[in-house]
Parts: sequence; structure tokens; C-alpha cells
Amino acid sequence: MASSAAGCVVIVGSGVIGRSWAMLFASGGFQVKLYDIEQQQIRNALENIRKEMKLLEQAGALKGSLSAEEQLSLISGCPNIQEAVEGAMHIQECVPEDLELKKKIFAQLDSIVDDRVILSSSTSCLMPSKLFAGLVHVKQCIVAHPVNPPYYIPLVELVPHPETAPATVDRTHALMKKIGQCPMRVQKEVAGFVLNRLQYAIISEAWRLVEEGIVSPSDLDLVMSEGLGMRYAFIGPLETMHLNAEGMLSYCDRYSEGMKHVLKTFGPIPEFSRATAEKVNQDMCVKVPDDPEHLAARRQWRDECLMRLAKLKSQVQPQ
Ligand code: NAI
Repeated sequence: MASSAAGCVVIVGSGVIGRSWAMLFASGGFQVKLYDIEQQQIRNALENIRKEMKLLEQAGALKGSLSAEEQLSLISGCPNIQEAVEGAMHIQECVPEDLELKKKIFAQLDSIVDDRVILSSSTSCLMPSKLFAGLVHVKQCIVAHPVNPPYYIPLVELVPHPETAPATVDRTHALMKKIGQCPMRVQKEVAGFVLNRLQYAIISEAWRLVEEGIVSPSDLDLVMSEGLGMRYAFIGPLETMHLNAEGMLSYCDRYSEGMKHVLKTFGPIPEFSRATAEKVNQDMCVKVPDDPEHLAARRQWRDECLMRLAKLKSQVQPQ
């Protein structure tokens, strides 16, 4: 394994998300140590990463300026957590979404790390105040929540604990930029952070519209893929408002009463009943049958689309 002037990053948990982080950090020239409680998971991860990187290189979609072999030489497995974290500048925890398990891992890390390393969790929805409560190194702790698949979707939500040092947020922000991701700061912790709150708001209304028989499940999806989603890949909902009138103030003057009128008709939180789930599933399965082969093929197609979209975005929005 090569050493790296950029520094060393440790990944704790070599599953779906751990592997993606490993590839991203290697693309930025960082040395990456993969740790997992299951040795086989580390072996699987290394094999899977090798395959993925070669395919990406062939497709001209490998991130960073190093070749696949150069990036691969930066990644190694490490069966011992104490050895893995020695000299690390950043530790990215990627174990399953279980508060007690994550607390145990962070308590263990807390007892072996120095005052410089950043302790970062990939959690999708556990609150930093719960995850990092009582840790000696709480100032160095942060949530860096990626979006699946992280190699193709660059957003990372940075969510601090109330006692996280501003320097920890700044350093993590800079690190994410260095590996080509797009970090954003959540100023205060909130259930679901920002991405999932927006996602759940959309799912919630989608479910109600289907349940009330206003639209079929596949037509509902078209509204996003052929409608809202077309612009949301480039501009967010607030900029959309700004552009759809003569600026934000003009939009609010013109449309806020209409929006409030519609918003008042929104229903309660859906129960996600079995009956509606079956109806939606039936419609989804017409296009993508829910067996492992069809689902995997569709995911691969999705990732290829995302890869092309990322290329297009880099051409029209140079960083
Ligand atoms: P996964 O189940 O694919 O991988 C978890 C890995 O952690 C496994 O390899 C497992 O062997 C290992 N592990 C379990 N206990 C461990 C321990 N005590 N020490 C070290 N390793 C241990 O899970 P996945 O999907 O990669 O999720 C990881 C985290 O990322 C979760 O917190 C999840 O919420 C978050 N996340 C997941 C996303 C997704 O779509 N999969 C998206 C964004 C965040």
C-alpha cells in the first residue's frame, strides 16, 4: 500500500456506504484503511472496489487525477481498530443504523484517538446529541451524512453536535470539497436533517395523492422525473421561485396566497397502509419487477444516468 501526503482516513464498517467513502477518499489522494468487525466484509469490499474502479476507469468516469491502480494502492484492509486509527486525520463510521452499536463504536474510538482526528458518522437519521453525548472528544465529532449512491450524488449533510468545535465543521467541509463532494451545513440538529425532511415531505404528499385516487403511482413518478426533477438537478426550490417571477419578492407577492390555499388542503401523515403499498408495488413492478436481478439492473441504469448527469453538470457549472 502506498502512503499518502494527503493523510490517512479510516473507514469503520465496510458495507455499501463504507466502500463508497473509501473510493471517494482514495480519489482525493488519501490513504484509506478499511476496518470491519467481519474480516470477510473487508475482503469483499476490497474486491468490489477493485472491480468498480476498473469499470469506472474504462467508462472515463473515475474520479480524481490518479489512475485506478494508483487509487487502489492507497486502500488497504486493517483488522485491528487500534492500529487502523493510528495517525489518522479523519475517521468515517459506517456501521448499521443502530444507536447503541454506534455509541459503542464512538466510545471505543474516544478512548484511543488523539485530539486532532475528526470522528465522523454516516448516520442517516440519528441525532448527533445522542450519538456523541458524554464523549471526551465531542468537539471533534460530527455527522457527515452522504446520499446513496455517494460516488454519483455529491451532497453531504454536515450536522454538528451542540458542542462540536467550529473548526471541526470547517475541516470536514474542506475535506469533503477536496474529495469532490458537495458539503452543506445543517446549523442545528433536527430529526431527518434537511435532505430526508424534504424527501419525506414529497413522499408524504405522493402517498396521499395515490391513496386518494388522484393519480396513478407511475404517473406520480413522472411528475418528478419529467417535471420537477428536470430543474431540481440544477436549481433548488427556492431559486426556482426566484426565477419563476421577477425575483423572490415578486414571486411571494404573486403566488403566496395561492400556495397557502393549496397547502391548507394537505392531509395528515399517511399510515403507509399495506393496501396502498400493494397498489403502488403493483404499478412499480410493471416497469421494474421486484426480484433481485431486475432491481440490480435498474439500479445500475440509475447509476449510469447519474454518472452522465454529473458529467453534464461539470460542463455547465464549472466548480
Ligand atoms: P451495511 O449493512 O451495508 O454495512 C455495515 C457494515 O458495518 C457491515 O460491513 C458490517 O459488517 C459492519 N459492522 C457491523 N458492526 C460493526 C462493528 N461493531 N465494527 C465495525 N464494523 C461493523 O450498511 P450501510 O448501508 O453501508 O450503512 C452504513 C451507515 O450509513 C448507516 O448508518 C446508514 O444509515 C448510513 N447511510 C446509508 C445509506 C444507504 O442508502 N445505504 C445512505 C446514507 C447513509
